[in-house]
Amino acid sequence: LRIYLDGLSGKLPELPVSFEDLERGAEEVMSAQLWSYVAGGAGDERTQRANVASFDRWGLMPRMLAGAAQRDLTADLLGTSLPTPLMMAPVGVIGLCDAEGHGDLATARAAAATGVPAVVSTLMQDPLEDVAAALGDTPGYFQLYPPDDRELTESFVRRAEAAGYAGIVVTLDTLTLGWRPRDLSLASFPQLKGLCLANYFTDPVFRSHLDASPERDPEAATMRWATTFGNPKLTWDDLAWLRSLTDLPLLLKGICDPEDVRRAVDGGVDGVYCSNHGGRQANGGLPALDVLPEVVDAAGDVPVIFDSGVRTGADVVKALALGATAVGVGRPYAYGMAVGGAAGVEHVLRCLLAETDLTMAIDGYPDVASLTRGSLREVR
Ligand code: FNR
Repeated sequence: LRIYLDGLSGKLPELPVSFEDLERGAEEVMSAQLWSYVAGGAGDERTQRANVASFDRWGLMPRMLAGAAQRDLTADLLGTSLPTPLMMAPVGVIGLCDAEGHGDLATARAAAATGVPAVVSTLMQDPLEDVAAALGDTPGYFQLYPPDDRELTESFVRRAEAAGYAGIVVTLDTLTLGWRPRDLSLASFPQLKGLCLANYFTDPVFRSHLDASPERDPEAATMRWATTFGNPKLTWDDLAWLRSLTDLPLLLKGICDPEDVRRAVDGGVDGVYCSNHGGRQANGGLPALDVLPEVVDAAGDVPVIFDSGVRTGADVVKALALGATAVGVGRPYAYGMAVGGAAGVEHVLRCLLAETDLTMAIDGYPDVASLTRGSLREVR
């Protein structure tokens, strides 16, 4: 309503409201390399496009006079009451999307201002401890890319525990990098320039493996990172070890196959994160939304976080109706960071929340629990 009233007095929103305008605005201000890295995906990007398109196959059934004057958007995730079911997915280069180069801290500040939880990446510009402090009371989850070094993996987990993160999210779909033509043609892999490696460069175990400190020889430190980052040999046999590392909630990200869900649950994980990395890793796959119902069914009582292709508040509502406990966005807030730093991220999150809330208000769904598969019909 405020936006409409402002419009009557001739005051227009300073930042883009639709995803398309946001995307255009971000492309204008980002370098060609960073833009390609963030906007691009694997192969010819069919899976990335299919992620977005799959939301069009579902329509929400409106229910009149359903008593949705007040909405309750809280969601319970592993004993933590989240103020909203919306989350920020981990974006490794978010640090660089900010004009000041401190996008991780800006993300945390936007989370603190909105109450939208953030899953923060291993690949950061600022150390995970500083980012945790900037989150304030808003829950943060540490996303772990398990390096090919158990001692270093353990060190990351210990640091995340000490910093006060609410859980560890281990990403499994990036044990090796995807085939990304846009990056290959522009040589735009920002991490290789020694950026986004603050968590490695400040880590005592990582530092102990170096001949010279990262401050003295950043290139050698970056090369060391490059040889330990990927971990393609990781298998389900390693889950017991990962589980043994922490009493914090443990979630696995990148899960799409119900059989993998069962293995994860049998292995003692606390949550499953259904995602295909926004179509950045493997092309030719299924849209993530299409596998969400199977994942939710296989997970039983175990909560499921979902991301990949969410662009609007209506998309958030659909993913909740298909059984997600919480719904993440990646590129939308990365673009918000590019156009306006922490304030831009806050703006994007508030727009998504407002649309989620209004969709539920108009269609008669007073809370997240009232959204079920019965709320949706397939669009013919
Ligand atoms: C990502 N994603 C990601 N995931 C992760 O677990 N760790 C990471 O460091 C990153 N880094 C990253 C960088 C960039 C530029 C993007 C766009 C994405 C994947 C991310 O968490 C999420 O799965 C997708 O972004 C969701 O898809 P949408 O919302 O971008 O369509």
